[in-house]
Amino acid sequence: MIFSHLSLRVLGLSLSCALVSEAVETPSLSALPQLRIVGGPYLQAPSPTGMTLVWTTNNKCVSRVEYGPSADDMPHVAVSARHGLIDANTTLHRIALRGLRPGTSYAYRVISTEILDFKPYKVRFGPSVRAEGRFTTLDPEKPTSSFCVLTDRHDRAPALRQALGSVQWDGVDLVFGVGDVMNDPMTEQQIFQNFLDPCTEFFAGRIPLVFVRGNHETRGALARDLMDYFPTASGRYYYTFHHGGVCFLLLDGGEDKADTSDEYSGLVAFDDYIREQTEWLERELRSAAFREARFRVCLLHIPPVVPQERQPDKFIRAPWIRDNWSPMLSKAGIDLMISGHTHRYAELPANEERAFPIVVGGTNTVIRVDVSPERLRLTTFNDDGTVLSRPPEALRKR
Ligand SMILES: [Fe+2]
Repeated sequence: MIFSHLSLRVLGLSLSCALVSEAVETPSLSALPQLRIVGGPYLQAPSPTGMTLVWTTNNKCVSRVEYGPSADDMPHVAVSARHGLIDANTTLHRIALRGLRPGTSYAYRVISTEILDFKPYKVRFGPSVRAEGRFTTLDPEKPTSSFCVLTDRHDRAPALRQALGSVQWDGVDLVFGVGDVMNDPMTEQQIFQNFLDPCTEFFAGRIPLVFVRGNHETRGALARDLMDYFPTASGRYYYTFHHGGVCFLLLDGGEDKADTSDEYSGLVAFDDYIREQTEWLERELRSAAFREARFRVCLLHIPPVVPQERQPDKFIRAPWIRDNWSPMLSKAGIDLMISGHTHRYAELPANEERAFPIVVGGTNTVIRVDVSPERLRLTTFNDDGTVLSRPPEALRKR
């Protein structure tokens, strides 16, 4: 999905007055329930110069984001528009802020104005709802940083809430969901209730949530719409970005079985997708930005290890990644891979075949990585906040 964007001073703006000025609260003649924000806002697609806000309302709206240095000073307005049309008459709102300054704190206010009636030549607006927050843009030069990783939560909201309630959030700049954080997504309600709502309650309105797709997120009726809820700057599930001296390399292993497997009903084409991704990866690993990063951390749901109980002729993806991507990543000097998928926490040191260590998150773990100029320090927590492991320094490649 392509976004265009407007970032404008409120004053002097001749954009539709219905957008920029507060809509007059008019009584609805319809039987619509009172307008509410029902999901989010949560932060997506973080970069040194951008951030995307996503939220949902119970009734159809048009939306905007006001932002600036403080809650009392938000001179900028952003909307989302495609093909010349501002997104409107929708309950899912997704607005990218661009042109921001790196490592800078911004206050934001999301505002949705109800559309009571949408006629070709007259649109009737209703009341507005709003929510406020604050975020900090990424900073590739930041000397110290921290990030957390969730894996394989599989719709278990109570355990997720316990885990998120146990995190010491001070200093956490990013949270990654490295696959199967949802379970075979079927409906918007499912992904909010089981994943996005807990994330929003604890962090996602102020700390960006970075989604790395797992195999279970390719299944279910909503799988083809997930980018609407987890937008990325590239429009792809695989990309790189930089923060705190780390180049984060996000890869998407797709499904774990062959495209022809009965389970997929002839509706997947991961062979082509993986091939295209591999071509992109070859180019990316050669880029100066990647090679010159202080640390290189790969996030990939399916790790390049093959559990004994899984027949490699059926579960083809893990051996394929082991034989194809793993050598490329070894050669490129990856410092650490964080994965999930096996549902068993594991620390796998580098070996003769693979020049980088892997930490595999479990179903009830939160991996925290504290980045300093000298090292990546890992701590893995159980959902109750107790320390499961502090992997030794030797786990790191350098
Ligand atoms: Fe998985």
